[in-house]
Amino acid sequence: MERAGDGVAIAGDSIGITLSEQIFIERGYVASHETDTPIETNRFHADLFWIVREPLRVGRPYNLRLATQEVKCQIPSIEQVMNSSTLETKIDKHEQLERNDVGRLMIETRGPLVIDNHDRIPNLGRFVIVDDDEICGGGTIFGGVYTDRSVAKSQNIFWSEGKITAGERALRSGHRGAVVWFTGLSGAGKSTIAQALERELFNRAMQTYVLDGDNVRHGLNANLGFAPEDRVENIRRVSEVARLMADAGAVVITAFISPYRMDRRRAREIALEGNVEFTEVFVDAPLDVCETRDPKNLYKKARAGEIREFTGIDAPYEAPEDAEIVVHTDRQSVDESVATILEQLLPRLKADEPDD
Ligand code: ADX
Repeated sequence: MERAGDGVAIAGDSIGITLSEQIFIERGYVASHETDTPIETNRFHADLFWIVREPLRVGRPYNLRLATQEVKCQIPSIEQVMNSSTLETKIDKHEQLERNDVGRLMIETRGPLVIDNHDRIPNLGRFVIVDDDEICGGGTIFGGVYTDRSVAKSQNIFWSEGKITAGERALRSGHRGAVVWFTGLSGAGKSTIAQALERELFNRAMQTYVLDGDNVRHGLNANLGFAPEDRVENIRRVSEVARLMADAGAVVITAFISPYRMDRRRAREIALEGNVEFTEVFVDAPLDVCETRDPKNLYKKARAGEIREFTGIDAPYEAPEDAEIVVHTDRQSVDESVATILEQLLPRLKADEPDD
């Protein structure tokens, strides 16, 4: 998409682009340089100024317009409500935003959106919220993480587009394909909850499968260890496999420590690029709880120095800051965790979304 012909254009100019490869492009798509890309995501932080009498409400559907793109969205949480003239915090954690308030909040879009942080590229970093064709507020995006997608690519390859659409698959199975990405420390309960969730989805006649760290490392990723670059590659491969399986219509549950925030970001981008729903689930338990459980006796070995680079001991774990779903396995039973996840996940998997 990013192959422009020779010549010079400056910001604001209109340009024509001849593609050397036939790809499907819709009105509103954003082209970028191959190695200097914007962010592709369905969740981001923003400051939003609300201008209409009817307050903004958490969880209610709105439309979002950003440059040439328009998508459905909702606000899952408002972190702070600020006074628009002083920018002083009025309320922490709130359910609505009144006229003339500025909210520091999270926005979740139905489907991928191409954005930039406002301080980097203002044109792609600002948006408006629309309700019934009325502009209700305007916002700026901040804190988005740029990922490095420049892996060595093979030459002369083409993506062959299948004849069966995602919509057709969803119609037959009654749900969309999706990636449900678990992250958390070893011993936090990822595999246990993933399997229990898989059972629940299976019982609802859904197509589902768990990709588990220990299993995938037996085969596909048998050549990878736990050095940082191996973990990055582990997660990259799993992201791609999960996306393919979700493209085939399955609800893929991945259970990997996936300790780096950047890798999880990239997993999201890979899924969204394939038009696949992505939901991050933080399986949270304090390190000391995981260490006490120590189901595989690995923490003991790590403390004794028999295993090096063990996550939480002498290798880092970057906890998610804005996962869609968080379960606390030190306080919630397996059933409670699964119920929390199902409640938020099932609505996202509905087949009959008009966006399909
Ligand atoms: S990840 O960091 O690359 O995402 P992954 O989830 O695939 O890790 O594998 C983690 C599992 O491998 C752990 O549950 C544990 O059983 C095992 N393991 C062995 N060595 C290590 C290590 N050094 N750090 C973390 N997990 C390890």
